[in-house]
This record gives sequence, structure tokens and C-alpha cells, in this order.
Amino acid sequence: MWYRIARSILFSLEPEFAHTVALRQLSFAYRTGMTRLLRPQLVDDPVTCMGLRFPNPVGLAAGLDKDGAFIDALAELGFGFIEVGTVTPRPQPGNPKPRLFRLPQAQALINRFGFNSAGIDVLVANVEASQTFSARGGVIGVNIGKNATTPLSEAAEDYRLCLRRLYPLLTRRPGYVTVNISSPNTAALRSLQDQQALDSLLAALRDERTRLTDHYGKRVPLVVKIAPDLNDADIPRIADSLIAHEIDAVIATNTTVARAGVAGMRHADEPGGLSGSPLRARSTEVARRLAQHAPERLPVIAVGGILTGEHAVEKRSAGACLVQLYTGLIYRGPGLVPECRRALLTATSKVASQA
Ligand SMILES: Cc1cc2nc3c(=O)[nH]c(=O)nc-3n(C[C@H](O)[C@H](O)[C@H](O)COP(=O)(O)O)c2cc1C
Repeated sequence: MWYRIARSILFSLEPEFAHTVALRQLSFAYRTGMTRLLRPQLVDDPVTCMGLRFPNPVGLAAGLDKDGAFIDALAELGFGFIEVGTVTPRPQPGNPKPRLFRLPQAQALINRFGFNSAGIDVLVANVEASQTFSARGGVIGVNIGKNATTPLSEAAEDYRLCLRRLYPLLTRRPGYVTVNISSPNTAALRSLQDQQALDSLLAALRDERTRLTDHYGKRVPLVVKIAPDLNDADIPRIADSLIAHEIDAVIATNTTVARAGVAGMRHADEPGGLSGSPLRARSTEVARRLAQHAPERLPVIAVGGILTGEHAVEKRSAGACLVQLYTGLIYRGPGLVPECRRALLTATSKVASQA
């Protein structure tokens, strides 16, 4: 109820400004102890995935907290894991504004942020400074990308640099690193999903991770996030590459460049990635195909268009072990997190009682 009022105020503001205002308000509420009222009073529903224990299977998707500056405040919403980033090695401003658009009729967003990032050093300091989420067992994912000025032929070095900087931090608290090769807003980034480019990037990251594991005595899981706009025939090929290079999980999916379901709507023709309801069916389909291809060997984290608890259950039924939200949070508010947690918990107990 209260979010409907907050939403009408936020939706009267320019979308990116509203985003900043909402995060600052949440942070203020956290620092003054008010978020305790928001915190869902739910029992944990732990899930083990990639060798990590997640207190519950509902996570925040990458892109909302790009620099990891709001982890403890966002944790109050009840997430089991929070993925921060995309972070780039060096700071960069991203694309010119405006770069975020609402399509309320379709419960969708289009963004072309283009990895605005304070850079890996600032993100590492912010994650270090966050305390309570990790102390309560929450898992932090860090989503890494390449700088816009780095040629594609040198992209692997950007990812390796981010991995090296993050590694010691993530040996001290539960976390994973996501390799983002699927944003539509960095020129040619998605071509890193092509066979040869993917194999060479993953081989470089596997070698780097092996070296770091030996050095720090702990293996940090590596995850790859893929696009929904791949051909169906590419999906098993990508899954096989991920498995061959010892990737621990796959996130399906990033935003789409397709415009099905929004044609004719205001802003529908803005360049960028579409998220929210129109993405749901395709991202679930990609998750299902991945899960069916290698059910035991490549866990799937499903994201795209979750706007209700039922949608989260739909992702789980498609084979996902964990789910993530972004656009649903903007349209439905913080209540969506406990709604998804409850729906997944109920679905799990039903399956258990039928067994
Ligand atoms: C404004 C915005 C910014 C995003 N930024 C990133 C990003 O930096 N890195 C990334 O991997 N995904 C990013 N995403 C994609 C989301 O993490 C998610 O994969 C996608 O939006 C689908 O989920 P949803 O329909 O629940 O929003 C962004 C999405 C939105 C809406």
C-alpha cells in the first residue's frame, strides 16, 4: 500500500533521478534504523548452490547497485544474495543521459547505461565497508565487465584484473564473481559469446582462477551471464563451453534487444536493453534449455520479468536453483521480495509433501 504512494511520487520524477532518490532514501532509512520495519519476518529457506550456502533463493540482479554502495541497506529488503556491478577496472561515466526509460503499460524498462562505474577500487572499498549482510550469511555477487575503451581483443585482461582485485575479498566472505558478456550497451560485448571468443576468454579466466585458488587456498565461484537473444542452437554450445572451463553457474538472462510485446508504446524504440514483463517468457525458456542440457553440472540462476511470486516459482520449475529481480522491484516495490520467498517456500513444501 505505502509503496503505491511512494511509487506515484517516484514515477513523477525522471527515471534515473528517481533511482538515485530511492537508493538514498533507503540508505537514510537504514542508517536511522527505520528499515527494521521493512525487514520481512520470514524463516530462512537455505539453498546450497556452487558450494555456497544462500540463506534464501531470492537475489537482487546486477545493475541496481553498480558500485556496491548500498549493500547493507538493500539487504533489509530480505534478499538472500545481492549482485553488485557491473564494475569496470577503471572508472567510466557510461552513456550520455537520458539512458533509462519506463514503459509502465508493459511493466518494463529500457536502459542503456553502458556500465557507468566508479571502478573496481571503489567497489572493493564499498564491499569491504559493508558488514551486516555478510555477517548474517548473505552472499555477495560481483558482476564484472570491460571498459568501453578497451578493445575487444584485450577484454580478457579487464576481466582478469577485476577478478584479481576481488579475489582476496571474496575469500573472506561468501561470494561469487559474474562475468558479464551479455550487456547490449557496450559495443560488441555480446560477441564474446561467440564460440572462439568465449573459449579464449573462459580459458584465461580459468587459468587466473586456478592461480588465485592456489595462492589464497580458496576457490571463489565464477558465473557467466548470458543474453536472451541467442539462437536456441547456441544455448547447448555455450553450456558445454562453460562446463568445459569449470564455470560454476550461469545467469539467464540479461536484458533483450528485441521489442516484442512493446511495439508502438512510448519509448519502445529507444536503443538499449528491455527488461521486465516482456522479457519473462524468453528468459525462462533460455533458463529451461540450459537446465535441461546439463541438470547436474551447471546450476542456473534465473532472472527476467519476475513481477510476482508465481513468476519466481515458474523460474524454479524451469530448473533454476536461484532467482534474481530488478524491474519487478521498481513496479511492485520491496514487498516483491518476501512474496517471492513465500511462494518458493510454499512450492518447495508442496513438492516435499507429494514426494
Ligand atoms: C536499469 C538497469 C540496469 C542494469 N544494469 C546491469 C548491469 O550493469 N549488469 C548486468 O549484468 N545486468 C544489468 N541489468 C540487467 C538485470 O540484471 C537483469 O538481468 C534484467 O533486467 C532482467 O531482469 P528483470 O526483468 O527482473 O529486470 C540491468 C537492468 C536494468 C533494468
